[in-house]
Amino acid sequence: MKNYVIKGNICFSKAGNELCTVENGYVVCKNGQCAGVYEDLPEEYEAFPCYNYEDHIIIPGFTDLHAHAPQYPFRGLGMDLELIDWLNTHTFVEEAKYADMEYADRAYDIFAEDLKNSATTRACIFGTIHKEATLLLMDKLEKTGIRAYVGKVNMDRNSPEYLCEDSAEQSAADTEEWLVESKRFVNVKPILTPRFTPSCTDELLEKLSGLQKKYHLPVQSHLSENLGEIEWVKELCPGTEFYGESYDRYDMFGNSCPTIMAHCVHSGEAEMEMMRKQKVFIAHCPESNANLSSGVAPVKTYLEKGMKVGLGTDIAAGSSLSIFKAMAMAVQCSKLRWRLYDQSAAPLTVEEVFYLATKGGGEFFGKVGSFEEGYEFDAVVLDDSSIKHPQELSVKERLERIIYLADDRNIAAKFVSGKEIFKK
Ligand code: GUN
Ligand code: FE
Repeated sequence: MKNYVIKGNICFSKAGNELCTVENGYVVCKNGQCAGVYEDLPEEYEAFPCYNYEDHIIIPGFTDLHAHAPQYPFRGLGMDLELIDWLNTHTFVEEAKYADMEYADRAYDIFAEDLKNSATTRACIFGTIHKEATLLLMDKLEKTGIRAYVGKVNMDRNSPEYLCEDSAEQSAADTEEWLVESKRFVNVKPILTPRFTPSCTDELLEKLSGLQKKYHLPVQSHLSENLGEIEWVKELCPGTEFYGESYDRYDMFGNSCPTIMAHCVHSGEAEMEMMRKQKVFIAHCPESNANLSSGVAPVKTYLEKGMKVGLGTDIAAGSSLSIFKAMAMAVQCSKLRWRLYDQSAAPLTVEEVFYLATKGGGEFFGKVGSFEEGYEFDAVVLDDSSIKHPQELSVKERLERIIYLADDRNIAAKFVSGKEIFKK
């Protein structure tokens, strides 16, 4: 059913610091697109069926711009290391298990089920180097109804033997086979996924750039997450002024190549300016950046410069699949950054992180993440009746508390591109 009305307390973002709320309002879905939010239902929609959610809160779905599905089994474990040691000690060991399709089947069932039950409607996800396991992940996500970009990871250097592709040729050939096979999916689309510069030879990046141009694919990777990593990239890429150039010199850094770079914690002015100009999306992953002692990204500055930013969970450097938790941590970390070492940018507000979680990240998928007219109809219904309170609260206050309490059990229903995919 693609034409209907949802009644409830409607909340959505139009701009970064503006949260629109309509109490006891109506949001209209027409042919899978949003046809506006109304205090009184216009006559032309009176014949549409109405889901009356009464006092529940209705929001656009969230976009998780950065998560690693194969790392989900060790979420919440082994966090006491910085990035490179964490990758070598825990991450690569876990990811190697996805050569075994039985393990992949069990692990990806759990990930897909939990993502389906979350408030996330769109996601950009890393698989592993394994073609078959990545197709299996895509198959499971396809069935959830969530819209996602999923990438087979490329890595042909500085990786343990048990998780290193044989050569740039082999990696690119596997990637092309995977791309062709992934044409069968509708909700799930492929995204090129060079893990990060230290894992990819120049030859491999050049071949991936060729595939990007041939198939017009988006790209996702990591950028300027950790100080040691940045020094390493300088050594690996002589002639580059900053980390982002290591992708840009292969035309995989925005412009005609839609690109998501996770983290950007320590990006300098020149890197920021290139990301701004070339419309590179930044996936801000505050929980991951705290867990791996990476630092706090200057997100307020990114917003003020008009850069493209959304939120990521970065499972499993981030422990939680909840974008509510990412929102709360984004506010909290921005306060610590402001208090401890950068008074030039004020902390993020609840309005701003709601924007990042909805319209900010959603933009990577097109007109997604708002209830403005013409947006794809993604919606999440929140039932906060289990959170008791003696005092009167406004809709905005209730939403603020749902964000801080970050309890995904409050989700009553979820719609993606007009289709109901989850109902309690
Ligand atoms: N950089 C390269 N690989 C990874 C990863 O799996 N997680 C994070 N947080 N950073 C990375
Ligand atoms: Fe990551």
